[in-house]
Amino acid sequence: MTTPENAVPVPTPAPRGLPAGKMPELRVMPAPSDANVYGDVFGGWIMAQVDIAGSLPATRRANGRVATVAVNSFVFKNPVFVGDLLSFYADITKVGNTSITVYVEVYAERNRLQANTVKVTEATLTYVATGDDRKPRKVPALDELIFPQDR
Ligand SMILES: CC(C)(COP(=O)(O)OP(=O)(O)OC[C@H]1O[C@@H](n2cnc3c(N)ncnc32)[C@H](O)[C@@H]1OP(=O)(O)O)[C@@H](O)C(=O)NCCC(=O)NCCS
Repeated sequence: MTTPENAVPVPTPAPRGLPAGKMPELRVMPAPSDANVYGDVFGGWIMAQVDIAGSLPATRRANGRVATVAVNSFVFKNPVFVGDLLSFYADITKVGNTSITVYVEVYAERNRLQANTVKVTEATLTYVATGDDRKPRKVPALDELIFPQDR
């Protein structure tokens, strides 16, 4: 009998058209409540997901809480529709004294059985590492990062 302990995954087609060799920070499917009456997903909903996706590598790099200080650029290149499966990729492009800048790209897998993938959004955001007092905090050096399992 197959149990969760001995289950072996069977080969499954990989998503096509997504950046190779990269792991998305988020994969989300917008629901009807995230769209206007025409079925286009609200830009504000996409911006919120981009902010969350960008904050994840920033939080790892900051080794703690961050606050979004600026949305430096934001381009909606193609519309997003209810039922698109969105993948959010986020790369740190700059680390300052207290700030971390992140480039976020969003791809939509549309009509998934036809494997139609389109880039829908790209944005650059800056986060600031903050302390419990919500004031800026120096971003630790890479060799100073402490992971929870090491604490
Ligand atoms: C984020 C916050 C703590 C920064 O405090 P601050 O006193 O304004 O910080 P500073 O002026 O010292 O700037 C901190 C860093 O942000 C950078 N920064 C500030 N404004 C920026 C902007 N408009 N664009 C890009 N970077 C900016 C600074 O260059 C500095 O980077 P560095 O230390 O790497 O050189 C404060 O502005 C704040 O609380 N803002 C509200 C945050 C928020 O509510 N976000 C939404 C929810 S997360």
